[in-house]
Amino acid sequence: MEWWVLLMVSAAVICWIWFEREKMSAKRLQRSGIPRGSAGWPFIGETLDFIACGYSSTPVSFMDKRKARYGKVFKTHILGTPIIVSTDSEVNKVILQNHGNTFIPAYPKTVRELLGENSILQMNGSLHKRIHSLIGGFLRSPQLKSQIVKDIEYSAKLTMASWVEKGGSILFQEEIKKMTFQILIKVLMSVEPGKELEILRRDFEEFIKGLICLPIKLPGTRLYKSLKAKERLLKVVERIVEERKILIEKSDGNGSVNDTLDLLLHDMDELKERRRFSSNFICGNIIEMMIPGEETVPTAMTLAVKFLSDSPEALKQLKEENMELRRQKANSSEEYSWMDYMSLSFTQNVISETLRMTNIINAVWRKTTKDVEIKGYLIPQGWCVMASFSSVHMDEVTYENPYYFNPWRWEKIGAVVNNSNFTPFGGGQRLCPGLELSRLEISVFLHHLVTTYSWTAAKDDIIYFPTVKMKKKLPIRVAPITAT
Ligand code: HEM
Repeated sequence: MEWWVLLMVSAAVICWIWFEREKMSAKRLQRSGIPRGSAGWPFIGETLDFIACGYSSTPVSFMDKRKARYGKVFKTHILGTPIIVSTDSEVNKVILQNHGNTFIPAYPKTVRELLGENSILQMNGSLHKRIHSLIGGFLRSPQLKSQIVKDIEYSAKLTMASWVEKGGSILFQEEIKKMTFQILIKVLMSVEPGKELEILRRDFEEFIKGLICLPIKLPGTRLYKSLKAKERLLKVVERIVEERKILIEKSDGNGSVNDTLDLLLHDMDELKERRRFSSNFICGNIIEMMIPGEETVPTAMTLAVKFLSDSPEALKQLKEENMELRRQKANSSEEYSWMDYMSLSFTQNVISETLRMTNIINAVWRKTTKDVEIKGYLIPQGWCVMASFSSVHMDEVTYENPYYFNPWRWEKIGAVVNNSNFTPFGGGQRLCPGLELSRLEISVFLHHLVTTYSWTAAKDDIIYFPTVKMKKKLPIRVAPITAT
């Protein structure tokens, strides 16, 4: 027999055995209550279809196909991991609530390596609760709210004016990132625009490039370069931390808390926590806090501008609402407050609709620490679980015509911050502590954009994989309203 015939016959036999085994195990799983599904091809599982759907204009089609075949909770094998995927909002709610610490974060190897074990994104139990409530409490505090409104307004006005100075033609996605990074670093450690901020931005960008890469740590590899960038970042942050400690000592610990760094250092001063909140721990956490904050807000702003450019009706109503606030403020000569921006109801609806359609964090990954049963599904101990938010956000039963940008749908749903059918900020124990700050930042930005400038956007498409962004970085042309 020819060698190639032998090879083909062997491959066919291996595949037949594989699929027979799969069929038998599917029957066994069905009896045990473990969600049904397919492990796909040997080694690669269903990764190719997952990536292909990710690159299409309907990334949830991977979930939709399996949901139709196996039900809302199913088993698959993607990115080297056997995983149970939930597209059911009630199951997702239980996963997020995480009673009894049953679901712990499960990030890919490169992410774990880059984050470090003390990162808030990876920690569990009482230490996680403590850090989460500390940071959340600060980001929601009236004191931060009153200060940060001014900082965001200042950055937004300056950034937009600089676009006009440059001639008005910009790549929106690139430009807006500079502004949001500046605000984020201000909230974290009060670094003002200048050389130090530029160094932080450059090294941080190098650092996060390694979050999705091959887990090989040799000189020259992506992971290696990212770890080196993290070392450089740590040096800068360590210096800022040391300088701040001296200031706090000088004030006998009585100074006010102006940023996240102050908050962590004051807490470290409580004797009983001294061992835990070491300087290393604080520096690492400051850097890791940049990760969830850095990409998300500018992506939401970029996509809001994209959707508004394509929806003149929505833009008109947004403009009217914001012009009205501007007139009120001009007449009363009062400063804008956090509440002024948050009570712009149509603006908040535009933001909700943008977050629903964009699915910036499309899912969260967890691992079970024990067997769990939810709605009749058994998730065995040690399994990875993905709570898919995008499938819920794009479900046509909950959201009529889900691919259509319709901010008016939120008038019927009501002023939503988060519920189990709308979880752009996650939920439960790990609900994003930056939720209100993000909404504020986007509101302030939209207010100043639509009341002071007009713009035209070039045609561009949204890419959903591996992260949401615009194919051509959204080229726009901006001009002050009076000049048009
Ligand atoms: C539109 C903007 C944002 C979106 C869509 C978003 C989304 C999320 C989501 C879905 C989670 C939950 C992750 C999980 O359950 O594993 C999360 C966690 C987190 N976010 Fe945000 N986020 C945004 C902005 C921000 C900002 C501006 C900050 C910081 C200033 C921030 C800080 C955090 C932190 C520290 C966590 C971890 C919380 C924990 O594990 O306890 N986020 N975010």
